[in-house]
Amino acid sequence: MDQLINDISALDRAHVFHPSTHAAAFARGELPNRIMTGGEGVYVVDRDGQRSLDAFAGLYCVNVGYGRTEIADAIHEQALQLAYYHTYVGHSNEQIIRLSERIVRRAGMGMSRVYYGLSGSDANETNIKLVWYYNNVLGRPEKKKIISRQRGYHGSGLMTGSLTGLATFHNAFDLPLDRVLHTTCPHYWRHAEPGESERDFSKRLAADLDALIRAEGPETVAAFIGEPVLGTGGIIPPPEGYWEEIQKVLKAHDVLLIADEVVTAFGRTGEYFGSHTYGIEPDIITIAKGVTSAYLPLSGSIIGERVWKVVEEGTDKLGPIGHGWTYSAHPLCAAAANANLDIVEREALTDNAKTTGAYFQARLHETFDDHPMVGEVRGVGLLAALEFVADKAGKTPFDPNLKIGPKVSAAALEGGMIARAMPHGDILGFAPPLVLTRAGADRIVEIAKVAVDRVHASL
Ligand SMILES: Cc1ncc(COP(=O)(O)O)c(C=O)c1O
Repeated sequence: MDQLINDISALDRAHVFHPSTHAAAFARGELPNRIMTGGEGVYVVDRDGQRSLDAFAGLYCVNVGYGRTEIADAIHEQALQLAYYHTYVGHSNEQIIRLSERIVRRAGMGMSRVYYGLSGSDANETNIKLVWYYNNVLGRPEKKKIISRQRGYHGSGLMTGSLTGLATFHNAFDLPLDRVLHTTCPHYWRHAEPGESERDFSKRLAADLDALIRAEGPETVAAFIGEPVLGTGGIIPPPEGYWEEIQKVLKAHDVLLIADEVVTAFGRTGEYFGSHTYGIEPDIITIAKGVTSAYLPLSGSIIGERVWKVVEEGTDKLGPIGHGWTYSAHPLCAAAANANLDIVEREALTDNAKTTGAYFQARLHETFDDHPMVGEVRGVGLLAALEFVADKAGKTPFDPNLKIGPKVSAAALEGGMIARAMPHGDILGFAPPLVLTRAGADRIVEIAKVAVDRVHASL
């Protein structure tokens, strides 16, 4: 047994294909491998006994924190009762029915039905298929292009990897596919003209979008997809008026809006949905992560009435919809989701994201606004980022080869905290579990400060 435990690290390097990892460096042993074994509250522990405050909630998903026996029990009971049955041709299960009613009621915004998958990527693939189906049923076969944003993140499938506006997800994968266009990234601090107000910046971005749609031909543009708060591309809250201005353009050209709420749904921005926080009125909403707090995989495409009516009309014309996955609406995942959302609601975690989130954001500003290596402190609710710069006044980025973001993240880890070096730019991201306390927020800021100072001193 001891031998096996000692060999586990080598076996990992030999046999596990890790996502978003430098495969060769990992196989050669140049990158650490950390084998996680447990978690409690906001802490995770590895097999060497090292405990870390998880200030990124896994991949912004373990919203209710680790070690919730209530969710484990719900999964166990459902597995004993009915581990699986499909939901094709009208079959269903009680857990998924209860969950769907709850999600639609909580969302409001004219939402109607939920189609389930297992990941944010597959939910967005479903969304794009539905948008194409919608326009085919309406007799508009040319209206198929999808617009996303530079630095937006929507997954890493064929279509969703194309929608993702980050070069690492395209390079050598022959992406993006055609029919996908990218518009300007809504990062005011980085892209505003001198003297331009946030509102004027938002108007300029809406004008960029309008020009793109006109250049392509509005009759060819089907949908716009965006995260209420741009996430993996850098944790960038929208500038003032952004969603209001963007939605005017979409309405004018009859372009559907998909709100990708994989990160923001279920409380992270301080409201149940990020769309509520920013006055977004989507036609389709993508959910995943926080719906189960990742105790089991589950994602969903929440379909608004406008699109749903056409789907119904389509099946009258074309017959049963040719889209379905074996594990759609899996009863174990639904049981996990219901138990998870019971906790979110009973413990008012959405309110905690708002209040503890406001405290956390204030502490970050007070600690880092004047730091010479920090160009911008930004965030909303329990989602935040520090962006590092070589020259604060000129907002000059560091040479990417210096790997400042990863170095700060590594220093934080040594200090006992996981914060994520975001894949684009030198940005340290925070998305702690929504159960975070003020003391926990203080601890995150304290460890981050030591880490940033250490890297700064080493320059
Ligand atoms: C906004 C957004 N959409 C989609 C995805 C893809 O989800 P998954 O990794 O579950 O496929 C992510 C993942 O981080 C995301 O942040």
